[in-house]
Amino acid sequence: MKLRGALCALLVACCAAPGCIQAVTLQVNEGNSTCIKAELSASFSVTYNTTSSSTRTVQFALPASATVDAVSSSCGAGGGLPWLVAVFGPGHALGLSFSSNGSVYSVANLTLQYNLSDASTFPDANSSDVVTVVSSSVGIWAAVNTTFRCMSPSAFSVGGATVTFSDMKLEAYMPGNDLSPAESVCTADTASTTAPSTTAAPVPTPPGTPEQGTYSVDNNGSVCLLAQMGLQFNISYVSKSQNKTVQHLVNLTPHLTNASGSCEASRATLVLTQEQATTLNFTFTLNSTTSKYHLSGLALLAIWPDMIAPFSASNASLDYLRSTLGRSYMCSAAQTLVVEPTFSLNTFRLQVQPFGLTTNQFATAEECQMDQDQMLIPIVVGAALAGLVLIVLIAYLIGRRRSHAGYQTI
Ligand SMILES: *[C@@H]1O[C@H](CO)[C@@H](O)[C@H](O)[C@H]1NC(C)=O
Ligand SMILES: *[C@@H]1O[C@H](CO)[C@@H](O)[C@H](O)[C@H]1NC(C)=O
Ligand SMILES: *[C@@H]1O[C@H](CO)[C@@H](O)[C@H](O)[C@H]1NC(C)=O
Ligand SMILES: *[C@@H]1O[C@H](CO)[C@@H](O)[C@H](O)[C@H]1NC(C)=O
Ligand SMILES: *[C@@H]1O[C@H](CO)[C@@H](O)[C@H](O)[C@H]1NC(C)=O
Ligand SMILES: *[C@@H]1O[C@H](CO)[C@@H](O)[C@H](O)[C@H]1NC(C)=O
Ligand SMILES: *[C@@H]1O[C@H](CO)[C@@H](O)[C@H](O)[C@H]1NC(C)=O
Ligand SMILES: *[C@@H]1O[C@H](CO)[C@@H](O)[C@H](O)[C@H]1NC(C)=O
Ligand SMILES: *[C@@H]1O[C@H](CO)[C@@H](O)[C@H](O)[C@H]1NC(C)=O
Ligand SMILES: *[C@@H]1O[C@H](CO)[C@@H](O)[C@H](O)[C@H]1NC(C)=O
Ligand SMILES: *[C@@H]1O[C@H](CO)[C@@H](O)[C@H](O)[C@H]1NC(C)=O
Ligand SMILES: *[C@@H]1O[C@H](CO)[C@@H](O)[C@H](O)[C@H]1NC(C)=O
Repeated sequence: MKLRGALCALLVACCAAPGCIQAVTLQVNEGNSTCIKAELSASFSVTYNTTSSSTRTVQFALPASATVDAVSSSCGAGGGLPWLVAVFGPGHALGLSFSSNGSVYSVANLTLQYNLSDASTFPDANSSDVVTVVSSSVGIWAAVNTTFRCMSPSAFSVGGATVTFSDMKLEAYMPGNDLSPAESVCTADTASTTAPSTTAAPVPTPPGTPEQGTYSVDNNGSVCLLAQMGLQFNISYVSKSQNKTVQHLVNLTPHLTNASGSCEASRATLVLTQEQATTLNFTFTLNSTTSKYHLSGLALLAIWPDMIAPFSASNASLDYLRSTLGRSYMCSAAQTLVVEPTFSLNTFRLQVQPFGLTTNQFATAEECQMDQDQMLIPIVVGAALAGLVLIVLIAYLIGRRRSHAGYQTI
């Protein structure tokens, strides 16, 4: 618009390591000078409505063919904010606008535009709209005259979508035409350099039985939801290091996990968050007419280092962990809660009470069928032993009477 003689260049840097999504270089120029330059990999996770009136989540990456849109992009000469807009595919776009206070610059808003008519990316979409979602206060900032660097994947939720950047270097309000050598490094990178750094993404080790954690949700000072359980994710996702879909079992680590949530009259949620990388959301529903409750929804958002894109799976029409108001639900045996074909949750030594807690402690438990069956085993064995003793006793008595009778005939 107010951009004079814009020259927008695109360079493609291919990762040396196999399996890594391509980094794209984008820059916005005005006259002979560059004001924004970004080298990054980006992937997107978008949920949309399908023709079969369900929702589907797709993941796709910013392709190497993405180009800077010279018309929308700007260095802010006309009084607006500097804006980098990369376009790709049939009508998709990623936008980053910047602001600065003279000493610090930051991403003022992050925009994702996607075209649901693109049937190869959004199969069975029930709409042909071009959807634009925006997120402000993204938290990407750096000192002026430094390059923002973040090699670790960082995910941003934009509307209902998720944008994940990795291998990112960018600068706005550039003093020269190249990225400044001085860098502002994101906290994720500074934290990971303290750990032994390996280029290969860590593959989760096959876990044993998960540790049991205790989680609670408070409402106005008193516990309104209480849960004790060991949790294990059974999840299939596209691995960055292996460039293929892998199936992994991953345990939730209680001491790294925070619990939050809410309690309403007929709905309670428990949200477990492990180090911002894993968010698991339980929704319990109470039917007040029948005084029965059950686990009606489970949602997982996982942003793990080896994932090519954030993994999200949810199902809001589940019917697990059924119990009665005023009771807790207990299942010591392992259970599998299937959420989606790509995600199921294995529970171990579970006890939960989402409604009707009065004393900050579990009420009497209703046990799952598997536990009841297991309790049956000692009863059956005991009964069988008692029966055996009885048979031996009868046989002995009969034998004794017969031999007694024998003496008498002599
Ligand atoms: C990943 O695998 C796909 C198909 O299996 C292949 O087309 C692609 O080139 C691979 N990418 C890399 C970076 O190895
Ligand atoms: C851009 O560079 C060209 C050649 O290097 C020079 O002639 C021109 O004056 C420059 N324009 C501006 C606005 O600096
Ligand atoms: C799906 O459709 C419903 C109803 O029209 C709408 O509220 C919702 O935002 C849509 N979801 C997505 C992901 O577009
Ligand atoms: C798309 O699906 C949503 C949810 O299933 C529905 O509410 C909406 O009316 C549908 N839109 C169209 C155009 O069919
Ligand atoms: C995002 O930033 C761009 C560029 O400054 C601006 O045109 C757009 O209106 C902004 N969007 C929102 C929702 O703030
Ligand atoms: C959206 O995609 C459709 C089909 O690929 C295309 O015809 C249409 O022009 C695209 N819309 C925009 C705004 O690019
Ligand atoms: C700019 O913003 C940063 C971060 O909010 C703040 O620390 C700094 O003091 C601000 N500088 C000026 C000149 O306002
Ligand atoms: C950034 O660099 C430019 C050119 O080197 C200089 O004029 C400006 O004062 C610097 N700004 C800050 C905040 O260091
Ligand atoms: C929370 O507790 C305070 C003091 O016990 C009470 O006055 C208030 O009504 C309670 N609020 C709710 C929403 O229960
Ligand atoms: C994990 O899920 C896969 C696919 O649903 C299934 O075949 C496998 O048995 C599950 N493993 C465990 C330990 O739950
Ligand atoms: C958890 O799920 C419930 C029900 O779907 C939803 O209302 C709530 O916003 C979710 N919370 C989080 C943190 O995702
Ligand atoms: C409660 O359960 C009854 C009987 O199963 C059912 O008819 C009713 O629709 C349920 N109510 C809600 C709000 O789900």
